[in-house]
Amino acid sequence: MKCGIQLRCISNISLRYISFYSRLRKMKFVTLSQTKNLMPTVGLGTWQAPPEVIETVVYKALDLGYRHIDTAFNYNNEEAIGNAIKKWISDGKGTRQDLFITTKLPHVGNRASDVKKFLELQLRRLQLDYVDLYLIHVAFGFHCDPEKLTPLVKPNGEYELDMDTNHVETWRVMEQCKQEGRIRNLGLSNFNEDQISKIVKEATVKPQVLQVELHAYFQQMALRKFCDEHDIIVTAYAPLGSPGAKDHFVSKYNYSPDTFPDLLGLPEIKQIAEKHSKTPAQILLRFLVQQQIVVIPKSTSEHRLKENMGIYDFELLPAEVNVLKKLDKGEKGRIFNFLFWKGVEKHPEYPFKLSGLDATQT
Ligand SMILES: NC(=O)c1ccc[n+]([C@@H]2O[C@H](COP(=O)([O-])OP(=O)(O)OC[C@H]3O[C@@H](n4cnc5c(N)ncnc54)[C@H](OP(=O)(O)O)[C@@H]3O)[C@@H](O)[C@H]2O)c1
Repeated sequence: MKCGIQLRCISNISLRYISFYSRLRKMKFVTLSQTKNLMPTVGLGTWQAPPEVIETVVYKALDLGYRHIDTAFNYNNEEAIGNAIKKWISDGKGTRQDLFITTKLPHVGNRASDVKKFLELQLRRLQLDYVDLYLIHVAFGFHCDPEKLTPLVKPNGEYELDMDTNHVETWRVMEQCKQEGRIRNLGLSNFNEDQISKIVKEATVKPQVLQVELHAYFQQMALRKFCDEHDIIVTAYAPLGSPGAKDHFVSKYNYSPDTFPDLLGLPEIKQIAEKHSKTPAQILLRFLVQQQIVVIPKSTSEHRLKENMGIYDFELLPAEVNVLKKLDKGEKGRIFNFLFWKGVEKHPEYPFKLSGLDATQT
């Protein structure tokens, strides 16, 4: 009899543990305002992932449990991502409804008259009837080479700025596309507080998501508070400090290599990682997700794809969160200032304050 009670106690306790851990392990979601759609808190970033690589990677990621993919017109890989999604669904592994696909209106299409043209092209490339989230990629706009769909560049290397960028007009067409069922949710990327406020004031569908650079060195506390007050979910791009950006910016734009952060190598992060038997990347991602921020780490390695998903079975302690919060460098921590597009800072909607912004430039 005594033994039976003991067994029941043990099984109750283990059941509680099982349910606790399975809850933590499960893919988590945030709920978007207005539509109440669920957005997975870990997505796969795909910048710098060439088409011939990303097709296999997306298929593998979906098999591993990823349900959220982040792409953009400018990443030149929408078609390959579309192929992977189509194959995964036709192989019977899941349905379109299981997935959350984000793409972005490019700088060269940042005007009301171009929204439908780009969205239709992107949907064709993705081989989808709708995207779950469509973001205006950047606040500024460039004039477009109509053949190549790339920015027009002047002989002196400066980009041809479209000085007539009007966010509210562009947003209105995005709202129409939502109404027509081609977009499920609307958002912005690389916009500042004033720019978002203007849209919030005029919009019927308020911005639901803001995608910005966000990591331990650049925690965007003020912007996050603003988003919280307006029921806007924040997605962190470069959540690992974008280790791949260094080679790209150094080779393509002649940036100085010394100025790029090495968040994964920080002793504070390594120490916390050891305590939890986790990797530095998992600590950086968990730090953000634990604060209701969506993360979209990019990886093309199967091993790291798995690693970046393995962040739901542990929790950072308040003291550890504080250590991480103290790493914030404010504006000096920003990597992506877009000054590599020569002359962009002269655009009336260039979103960032320039003081301290040229830290990464030679
Ligand atoms: N809206 C925007 O303007 C904007 C700007 C930048 C990025 N984004 C989006 O945000 C995504 C993420 O940003 P990001 O790609 O710049 O930076 P990130 O995700 O912080 O870092 C990606 C880099 O880290 C490496 N990596 C991934 N997982 C790792 C791990 N567990 N341990 C060690 N290294 C790891 C990757 O290499 P491997 O591939 O070799 O693993 C890659 O070089 C992009 O891919 C893109 O979808 C948006």
